[in-house]
Amino acid sequence: MEFHPLSRLIVISNRVSAGNSNGAQGGLAVALTSALREMGGIWFGWSGELTEEFSGQVNLDRKGGVTTATVDLEEQDVEEYYNGYANRTLWPLFHYRIDLAEYERDFAGGYRRANERFAETVRPLIERDDVVWVQDYHMFPLGEELRRRGCRNRMGFFLHIPWPPRRLLGTLPGANRLVETLFAYDVIGFQTAEWLEAFCDFVREEMGARIEGDVVVLGKRRVRLLDCPIGIDAREFAGLAASPAARLAFRQMRDSAVGREMIVGVDRLDYSKGLEERFLGYERFLTEHPEERKEVFLLQIAPPSRAAVESYQRIRSTLEGLSGRINGAHADLDWVPIRYVNQGYPRDVLAGVYRAARIGLVTPLRDGMNLVAKEYVAAQDPEDPGVLILSRFAGAASQLEGAVLVNPYSAEEMSDAIMQALRMPLSERIERWRRMMDNVEQQDVMWWLKRFTDVLFEEAPAGNVPA
Ligand code: G6P
Repeated sequence: MEFHPLSRLIVISNRVSAGNSNGAQGGLAVALTSALREMGGIWFGWSGELTEEFSGQVNLDRKGGVTTATVDLEEQDVEEYYNGYANRTLWPLFHYRIDLAEYERDFAGGYRRANERFAETVRPLIERDDVVWVQDYHMFPLGEELRRRGCRNRMGFFLHIPWPPRRLLGTLPGANRLVETLFAYDVIGFQTAEWLEAFCDFVREEMGARIEGDVVVLGKRRVRLLDCPIGIDAREFAGLAASPAARLAFRQMRDSAVGREMIVGVDRLDYSKGLEERFLGYERFLTEHPEERKEVFLLQIAPPSRAAVESYQRIRSTLEGLSGRINGAHADLDWVPIRYVNQGYPRDVLAGVYRAARIGLVTPLRDGMNLVAKEYVAAQDPEDPGVLILSRFAGAASQLEGAVLVNPYSAEEMSDAIMQALRMPLSERIERWRRMMDNVEQQDVMWWLKRFTDVLFEEAPAGNVPA
């Protein structure tokens, strides 16, 4: 990849996970790691650790040719910024769940403070020709905080989650001010054209911004907008599916399936993933097709996430109750309909599990992209691929046209889709998979990285620098 020779890349995100691309990391970490290795630079963010009193002391580390810089936060910061504003306010709101969104001034204050602290800490690490790239909803105001501290560098922002419709975002106290902070960046990227348009709608109608082609203008500030769907490292993942760990997992799954077809779901335990609706859709299938019942089972892997947040504790206990009820009602001496597993697995093991599954069931109620859908596709046997059932409300639906698309709120549609997938002839499975795999391979994570950084490196920071 070609980069500007003088520029280093400064990646800033809440979580920092650089290292070797040995299969233990997610695709994003792999991509950012390789970009940083190529261009040089720093990956900065929260260490995940607490400190008694914030000192701004940076923990520098070097792993796999990449420098990481992390900082510890106070407990109150973590409560108000990470557990609070990021995950109890913005996350539910941006996933269309205003019923779960909590609006507390303390959260907004803590979010602002944590972003000021991040800016204060990272500012001295940024050199004149560096390009700054901020990731995700934890850090909307970081660009503005850096500008306040005299940072004139090119700065981009990428949102990994959806952008909510105008009327929903309008319920957030201080929404306009929050969105205004984004105008400190030179480029803003979204996963899909739909989220980008929702952003335009908000800034035009609520803030009086002007849209000029792919540039949005607010007062003196001009920001280039970009739809830029994130991908996976398809080749690496297909390679993982052939690794010894994957082969072992594949054999174990096939053996334990004793001739039955496996349906697999793998998700962080999060209400946006539609797990409750998925279980109900699967139960609908069991009752509508009693003759198929013992021919299939659902393996749902759902490692707990954000466990300090009450809505996550609630979804966890709801799912425990629901899986117990469904298994109690339908299980037989030699068959359990749902295997519900609350732990995570290494990516190579998952690759083998995906390959062993006739159906990948990826049915979030709302999702910025969903990389599990792409990993499921990449792990398949080209000569005998499984079928992806995908929510039409995941960003990935705009790319993976070969999937069986469903409305995850409809148990009937989900039941029909499972039946359709089980009956699908091999020729159609191959044809659909090939179309999906072409996309997963072409629009992979390096394609994403290049698409964003090409624009970011070109874009003059016109109007967005402090006077
Ligand atoms: C989503 C977000 C990421 C986040 C990840 C895991 O994919 O877009 O920014 O890192 O979830 O969530 P966590 O709260 O564990 O970082």
